[in-house]
Amino acid sequence: MLLQEKIKNKISSTNDQLISFSEFMQMCLYDLDYGYYSSKKNQFGSKGDFYTAPLLGNLFSNLLVKQILDCFLEVDRNIIEIGSGNGQLAKDLIIELIKQNQDIKSYYIQEKSSTLREQQKIFLKNSLSKNQFDKVQWIDDFPNNFNGVIIANELFDAIPTNVYEASNYNIYERCVAFEKDKFLWRTRPCLLKFDYQLSLPPSKIIFEYSSLYREIIESFSKTQKSVFLIIDYGMEERQLFHPQRFDGTFRGFVNNRLTSDVLLNVGNQDITYHVNFTHLAFLTKQYDMNILGYTSQSHFLNNLGLDFINHQSSQDHYQQLSEINLLTSPSEMGELIKVMAIGNNNKMELSGFRNFDRTHLL
Ligand SMILES: C[S@@+](CC[C@H](N)C(=O)[O-])C[C@H]1O[C@@H](n2cnc3c(N)ncnc32)[C@H](O)[C@@H]1O
Repeated sequence: MLLQEKIKNKISSTNDQLISFSEFMQMCLYDLDYGYYSSKKNQFGSKGDFYTAPLLGNLFSNLLVKQILDCFLEVDRNIIEIGSGNGQLAKDLIIELIKQNQDIKSYYIQEKSSTLREQQKIFLKNSLSKNQFDKVQWIDDFPNNFNGVIIANELFDAIPTNVYEASNYNIYERCVAFEKDKFLWRTRPCLLKFDYQLSLPPSKIIFEYSSLYREIIESFSKTQKSVFLIIDYGMEERQLFHPQRFDGTFRGFVNNRLTSDVLLNVGNQDITYHVNFTHLAFLTKQYDMNILGYTSQSHFLNNLGLDFINHQSSQDHYQQLSEINLLTSPSEMGELIKVMAIGNNNKMELSGFRNFDRTHLL
């Protein structure tokens, strides 16, 4: 209720009694007092609202270690993880690297939510040895002249986005109003100049577009030499703007269930959407960086070798089969999630994209 009041007041303070969806999403997820990711509720896993790949088991992180080791052939042994959630991926990556006698210099975490930052500190302190924990540092900005690997799993789909509606190439912005005690969609003329020519269909379509991606890609371009691994729900623009998705892709999650309306239940549900990888590819080129690969999560993990798994008991065996299924099945994360690697000051080949690279579709 308090967050509803806060958003309502923000809307009343504007001339047209509207706020962008990006402002609405920012407050719902990240308001310092009442935002979804600022609350003490458990957002992650079976007792939370949604699953991400690292929460299914350690298969995903073990395969990611293989890709990171590839990168270490060209860049320094430093890792930055952006948006670490409950810290599970950080823990699993560090433990697997140590298990393989692969030392790293630093593991940096950049996390927007101060509540999650505190939870990550407690979790990692309790799960890692002192030596391992001492390598982890929480940062606000990338270190100067950073040289290493940057990982973002399901970061971009949690970055606030604007929403637009186009019909016959006329574009309007879909904003949020508050009327008769509830939040509602309202349109206004689109004032934004998009970074590039969008490939819109003539038929009516609702789509997301986040101007905030630029900031992240720009800070990446200022690193000395690095590889950026982006893993996210999303697709290239031609697929994203398919008439099948005429209603946009934003959606809410509570208790591992899709909710009916992202404007309801403010601050108590996760809000997410599909990332436009063509937009990320455009920014990559604009900052003179290289796309090292783009493919589905399923192909990425298969390229890294799902076959090395060593089943220890039949219980582990079934657990792993179910994990593999969720990670790779086309109707689950396998096809819906894409992996994109960006190289800054390097053009190395990465084994995760050896087969079925789809960079040409971006
Ligand atoms: C959907 S969760 C994913 C968590 C984790 N990577 C995982 O796979 O389980 C999104 C995470 O990104 C964080 N986040 C969102 N925007 C951020 C930003 N600009 N900088 C750093 N962290 C951010 C959120 O607070 C949250 O921890």
